[in-house]
Amino acid sequence: MRSFPKGFLWGGASADFQYEGGFDEGGRGLLSHDYETDGSLEHPRHHTMQKSDGTLIKPRSSFFYADPIPDDAWPVFLEDAYYPSHQAVDFYHHYKEDIALMAGMGFNVYRFSICWSRIYPNGDEELPNEEGLQFYDDVISELEKYHIQPLITICHDEMPMALALKYDGWSSRHLIDCYVKYCRTLFKRYGDRCKYWLTFNEINAVRGFGPCGTRASDGAARYQAAHHMFVASAKAVKLGHEMMPGSMFGTMYAMSELYPATCKPEDMMHGLLARRENWYFIDIMGRGYYPSYAKQIWQHHGFDALDITDEDRQILKEGQLDYIAFSYYRSNTTKAGDPWFNVGGSDNPYLENTPWGWPIDPLGLRYVMNTIYDRIQKPIFIVENGMGAIDQADENGYVEDDYRIDYLRAHFKCMKEAILEDGVECLGYTMWAPVDLVSLSTGEMKKRYGFIYVDMDDKGQGTLKRTLRSLITG
Ligand code: BG6
Repeated sequence: MRSFPKGFLWGGASADFQYEGGFDEGGRGLLSHDYETDGSLEHPRHHTMQKSDGTLIKPRSSFFYADPIPDDAWPVFLEDAYYPSHQAVDFYHHYKEDIALMAGMGFNVYRFSICWSRIYPNGDEELPNEEGLQFYDDVISELEKYHIQPLITICHDEMPMALALKYDGWSSRHLIDCYVKYCRTLFKRYGDRCKYWLTFNEINAVRGFGPCGTRASDGAARYQAAHHMFVASAKAVKLGHEMMPGSMFGTMYAMSELYPATCKPEDMMHGLLARRENWYFIDIMGRGYYPSYAKQIWQHHGFDALDITDEDRQILKEGQLDYIAFSYYRSNTTKAGDPWFNVGGSDNPYLENTPWGWPIDPLGLRYVMNTIYDRIQKPIFIVENGMGAIDQADENGYVEDDYRIDYLRAHFKCMKEAILEDGVECLGYTMWAPVDLVSLSTGEMKKRYGFIYVDMDDKGQGTLKRTLRSLITG
């Protein structure tokens, strides 16, 4: 039987504010997600804020929703609210145990994100926070003990809160300098121990206050913020290549497939236009220039132009990505008349859904792998894939999660076919998320992905004890 290519990277992935906790330890500054409450499918997460006249407001600001935030609103902690990022599942104090468990599962790579405000608490200090740097040194040393290589996400949908408040986040060009300084610090400190880097997570999906730090949520604001992130990423790639010869840079995209709902030509055409909402981000960063259809996208969002300088265009060319990383959880369908940014879409009658309504589509993974590779002709890396489900542990903490095993097995099979039969060059696969952590979209704990069960509920109550779920075989 033919198997995965030699050197293929297998492991898991996590994000600091969903996993790490220790929000007020080790000199960490506040993060844009620290004021974000828990939620559920029915009740969106929101930030807690106060206006200058004392009124409390709760703007939604998560993956699926982003309310504009008034200029005079300031974040506040409410005593009766629960903020999942504060404790998360406490990797900060459990990293040795968790990494040992990952090693026991045969990982040779672990993707984690560095918390920006642990390194630069306010984002614009002169010097970094040594305690924060030391924490990730310790994490990397622990990984090295087990021959697991780090795959570092430099920025996973977040920023120091101070940058959001002082500069309105990525709407400001100044963030490019803050980000590049942060990158330089990371490359200097970890450059000899880390080859694979991701400049941003799901850059094509970020919007709103948590990920972008911007108060506005309209199209022009979002695309200008994204442009500043493109330039920041390209500068980081260029710098990284100079400081760390042989290093490999990607950015991560949410690339769950978008199928036309029918073969009606209007649906097909709509599918193509809507999918460009994602290609836009990959094309610019993977090919190094704005595609000819960019203006059409801007106009669709109600504006004609962005502030793009000649120097920006040059840096985009020079800082192209080495590989394209993406998350894949599901597919979506779309038809003429649907919005272009369309996670959710119409039902797909051929697929079953997870309890969160996410269609399960392993063949879609093979499809996406092929479409990205065909188009960009650079290696790809699947850095998130997994199944969120409600798991019931028995009295010994053991979980029978055959549905997750089936999900992963089917996706592995399709990934293997894409590599071995279709010839897609794929660097590796990191499953989301090996140890249960807090859901990004809903802030819940009960939406679990892990191989390792963590004893904690939606309000952060529990022993945090880690227990192995059933093992995948075959
Ligand atoms: C991706 C993010 O969007 O999907 C992760 O990069 C996130 O941060 C993951 O956790 C799964 O989504 P959710 O909402 O189930 O946590």
